[in-house]
Amino acid sequence: MIKITNVLIMIFVFSFANQTNAGSYQAGKEKSQVCAACHGVDGISQIKMYPILAGQHKNYLIHALNEYRSGIRDNVVMKGFAAGLSDQDIEDLSQYFSMQKGLKIPPLK
Ligand code: HEC
Repeated sequence: MIKITNVLIMIFVFSFANQTNAGSYQAGKEKSQVCAACHGVDGISQIKMYPILAGQHKNYLIHALNEYRSGIRDNVVMKGFAAGLSDQDIEDLSQYFSMQKGLKIPPLK
């Protein structure tokens, strides 16, 4: 009986942990408003100097934002915006932008 209770607790804890870590589309959408000025509405930039974020891989976006925040990627503009982002913000924003229709990757041959 004790074992079953332990398993149930573990399942509860793990599902809760997943919920907080995985990016939230809705939260990302709200947080993305500040990004739209340059990266366009829904991450579809109309200006060449600003990369299109829509449809980019989630892991790539997380990686890029972490690098701007830590300074490994040295860009004056993005450093300023990434500096204020928490890990959860980065997860949410990356989830949101990765789910927009944007980049198309040709199928591998
Ligand atoms: C003032 C304009 C501006 C704003 C606002 C802005 N960015 Fe950027 N962003 C840029 C520029 C310019 C680059 C290209 C920088 C470089 O060359 O590394 C960039 C690059 C990026 C990249 C890397 C894209 C790639 O393909 O490697 C990501 C991810 C990104 N921005 C996310 C965001 C997010 C998320 C926000 C909102 C929190 C945001 N940006 C707000 C101008 C902006």
